[in-house]
Amino acid sequence: MGEFRTMGELERMAQYRLPKHVWDYANGGAGSEATLRRNRAALARLAIEQRVLVDVRNIDLSVDFLGVRLPMPAIVAPMGGLFRFWPQGELEMARGAGRDGCMATVSGVCRWPVEQVAEAATGPLLFQLYHNGPREWVQAKLERVHSCPVYKAVCLTVDVPLYGRRDRDLDNRYGARASEETQELPEPKPPDPEYPAQLTWADVDWLRQHVRLPFGLKGILSAADARIALDHGVDFIWVSNHGGRQLDSARATVEALPDVAEVVAGRVPIVVDGGFTRGSDVVKGLALGATVVAMGKAASWGLAAGGADGIAAMLRIIREETRLAMGLSGHTSMRELTPDVVRTAGAA
Ligand code: LAC
Repeated sequence: MGEFRTMGELERMAQYRLPKHVWDYANGGAGSEATLRRNRAALARLAIEQRVLVDVRNIDLSVDFLGVRLPMPAIVAPMGGLFRFWPQGELEMARGAGRDGCMATVSGVCRWPVEQVAEAATGPLLFQLYHNGPREWVQAKLERVHSCPVYKAVCLTVDVPLYGRRDRDLDNRYGARASEETQELPEPKPPDPEYPAQLTWADVDWLRQHVRLPFGLKGILSAADARIALDHGVDFIWVSNHGGRQLDSARATVEALPDVAEVVAGRVPIVVDGGFTRGSDVVKGLALGATVVAMGKAASWGLAAGGADGIAAMLRIIREETRLAMGLSGHTSMRELTPDVVRTAGAA
């Protein structure tokens, strides 16, 4: 297999290789898919201001994120069920993502032990916790994460109090959550996927006491919740609508981002995800206040197209696209990206 050159090539190869129901599971959204489309549409309505005659021979894409120096401001977002995309997909993801030092997020519903993912990892990891069981279960899971130094931070998923109604999965008669796997998977399913319905800010306080790494919330989409999160002492905020897979008709993440960034005012790092699949999208996210952009679907395309090699290729393409978007808009460092770098424009 030759090296992948473009995002389109990865996307097409992924769609070609995956059974329709797996493709739909990864690329579909909740209900009418308004949130899914809005994420992309909102990014498409943003233009990057083109500035010229700046010396752009040296462009520094690196960022500091939660005490880790990353080579570029894009990380892999968490996705469940990666074994459906590639044999031992969750291990392949960790193998490929870190090749150039990038960070990957490990899904809390990953069906490989966190220790095994840590062993496979070639770069830093972030652990996405699902509170899918009672506190004793969460505590035991956290102990295991804490025992692997490659995990640099933990985020709690807060946008799945109820599981989204994914019309494509329903149409396909496919229940990713309920599905009986045909292969033996080494990590058992969490005991109680309904548990998150009862979570409140009191659980955030409890977790704050028990997580011994930088701790953030994934799934914040309003200034009001960002303010409460800061009051509860979180170390980072992840602006997300779960890739359009949860609340149908939610705001686009890139539209909510400036509101959150205003409240946060630089006090903690911000992650954003939701339809970011290009280097130009990374520049837009950073301009509007994100510290790093997380990519889920794009990473799933890379994984399904070529395993660890596909993930590494996807991150290299994003890095090159981001470098070019920076240089062609007259910027040489991520610190220069401020809200005036993007303008609302006609739909692309
Ligand atoms: C999903 C869960 C795994 O969105 O986060 O399918």
